[in-house]
Amino acid sequence: MEPIAAPLLQWFEQNRRLLPFRQEPSAYHIWVSEIMLQQTRVAAALPYYRRFIAELPTPAALAACDPDRLRKLWQGLGYYNRAANMQKAARILCERYGGDLPADYEALRALPGIGDYTAGAIASIAFGLPVPAVDGNVLRVFARLYDDDRDIMAPATRRAFTERVVAQMPADRPGPYNEALMELGALVCLPNAEPRCQDCPLAALCAGHASGRAASLPNKPPKPAKTVVPVTVALLTSPRGVLLQRRPAKGLLAGLWQPPAFEADHPLDAGELAARIAGLGLAVQWTGPLPASRHVFTHRIWQLSGWRGTVPDLPAPAGCVWADARELEQTYSIPTAFAFCFEDGTPH
Ligand code: ADE
Repeated sequence: MEPIAAPLLQWFEQNRRLLPFRQEPSAYHIWVSEIMLQQTRVAAALPYYRRFIAELPTPAALAACDPDRLRKLWQGLGYYNRAANMQKAARILCERYGGDLPADYEALRALPGIGDYTAGAIASIAFGLPVPAVDGNVLRVFARLYDDDRDIMAPATRRAFTERVVAQMPADRPGPYNEALMELGALVCLPNAEPRCQDCPLAALCAGHASGRAASLPNKPPKPAKTVVPVTVALLTSPRGVLLQRRPAKGLLAGLWQPPAFEADHPLDAGELAARIAGLGLAVQWTGPLPASRHVFTHRIWQLSGWRGTVPDLPAPAGCVWADARELEQTYSIPTAFAFCFEDGTPH
């Protein structure tokens, strides 16, 4: 393979998006952006990034943030463990590193929530250290460049591709090189059989383009089927507001708030749901059904249904609160899976 760095870096200089974390590329900014971008598209992540940095401008501010407030700042981004891990890491930064990220790959890699990719991105982009940062974009670019159809989920393939990334890395510009590879994957060497080879600065060097196989790479094994889980929701209103219940401190959507909801092997009918609500000490009168909805997680799909109802003016049961409209909006972090409950003109 001929060297790719020169045409790649030239393309990057002319085509890179002007993103806020590129305008002020401190290690903290790079860290926050890379964590957000792990499972989220740039356009969706940007408003979160701006709010997060405005409110928590330093690792010390993140370390000191109330965990409920942190979950609220993350509401809608999903994979909420990312935020909890960042806070754990920020506390370690304050204890051990004077509140800054260390300019050291191994030390970064040892922090909660920071894996090979994120450590490589921070070390190279923020500190200019010559280490790779190989994410899904970069694996796709290299599978096509080398016309290599090995399974990109296999650790041996990832090691082999990472060696190639390192072999092509220009010693003086590791950060721009890594970021250019990601940007090429995000803007040109697109997934889902849609490479835009006519716009690609590397097309003349690309073995996958030459063989005509670029669109069918990378080779990624199909994901296992997800389990469908019926979840029945009770949207309960009293004169005090809407009832929210806190989810357990561990596991899926840990610590977030939601209307009472019950997983079962079938969607509960109104009678079954009323019996569950009686278990909370509340006698409900149903006023109508909620719309049906679905929410897709990594390993499961929630099949959501339920009812709206009214309950008497009583204190909230243990682990629950009554939330008014302002608190629903500003205080309680409610998973996107439950947005469907509130969509046709909030609770009544
Ligand atoms: N995806 C994840 N990190 C990125 C970055 N720094 N630039 C472009 N796309 C990305």
